[in-house]
Amino acid sequence: MKGGYPNYMLKEIHEQPEALRSTIIPRVREGNLPDLSKDGIPHNILDNVNRIIITACGTAMHAGLIGRVMFERLLRIPVTVEIASEFRYQNPIMDKNTLVITISQSGETADTLAALRLAKAGNAKTLSIVNVKGSSIARESDYVLYTHAGPEIAVASTKAYTCQLSCLYLLAFAFALEKGRLSEEDCSKEMENLLQIIPAIEKTLTFHSLAEDISRNLKDCEDLFFIGRGLDYALSCEGSIKLKEISYIHSEAYAAGELKHGTLSLVTEGTPVIALATQANVYSKMISNIREVRARGAMVILITNGSDLIDSSICDYHFALPYLAGDFAPFTAAIVLQMLAYYTSVGRGLDVDQPRNLAKSVTVE
Ligand code: M6R
Repeated sequence: MKGGYPNYMLKEIHEQPEALRSTIIPRVREGNLPDLSKDGIPHNILDNVNRIIITACGTAMHAGLIGRVMFERLLRIPVTVEIASEFRYQNPIMDKNTLVITISQSGETADTLAALRLAKAGNAKTLSIVNVKGSSIARESDYVLYTHAGPEIAVASTKAYTCQLSCLYLLAFAFALEKGRLSEEDCSKEMENLLQIIPAIEKTLTFHSLAEDISRNLKDCEDLFFIGRGLDYALSCEGSIKLKEISYIHSEAYAAGELKHGTLSLVTEGTPVIALATQANVYSKMISNIREVRARGAMVILITNGSDLIDSSICDYHFALPYLAGDFAPFTAAIVLQMLAYYTSVGRGLDVDQPRNLAKSVTVE
């Protein structure tokens, strides 16, 4: 059942190239363009839409944070990401010109389902990204884009998350093409780059020994920080929840520019800081933030897109991800974050698949 792996989480981490292939490839048409017609998603779904709300819980919500950046960059339509358990009680503003996207692995999360029902009651168009076929959220949404991740058994979501990301990228490219915000030529280049994530993830999975080595230095710490900007901040949120839920170590995700507004006082000699610096547009800003934590004695684990590093003295450990052009580094960086959480939990002798107090599917409020 575990395919020779000691637990489901490791198996599912390693299944990501295949899961992504199954999710992306059927949605690529001639000319390397996105095609969501077989999913029943009308090409003009965004007609009259002036606002997108993404709502979900936990890791699925973190996928939404990445989706927001991609949608806003490509479509220039305002997008908000709402925690479903908050959204449902906030009397949200929506109408027939709102598209509400719900994201859920199980398709049964009570708060996400309630958020979807609220969206329908508010006359919004609804589209869900769901893994489990025929689940409640899938059945009740106007449109469904399935992730083909296969069954995800470990409580910590891994392959469902990267497949959710791939669906959000596919939607962003398909919408941008339809809206004329991407030419066919540019859209096809984006899709080629999206396909490149699969070999890049295969390569990233070979960094497991480095992740295992580093986790020996993480397993006994009490607090640690994940920092990043833009897409990397969204990823920091995901890295932090993954580590917390299976290793029981307290961690926080911080937008790197916010450090000096409070958090820096928590960084002392030896505090581990996992710094994500995969975004070219804010790379130099990130390097300054890393120097700030470094000056307070932090142990820095740096993750970059490609191997360019202006100053190797700014970190203790460095994951140089296989270089990906464009905005695709979240896919490979996510793998590193999953491996760090995984090996830290294993190093602490914990039950990786079934962490205490948590359930795979949260069907109660
Ligand atoms: O089934 P869902 O995607 O709706 O579940 C949402 C969250 O409960 C889930 O992502 C949770 O945060 C994961 N255990 C995190 O790894």
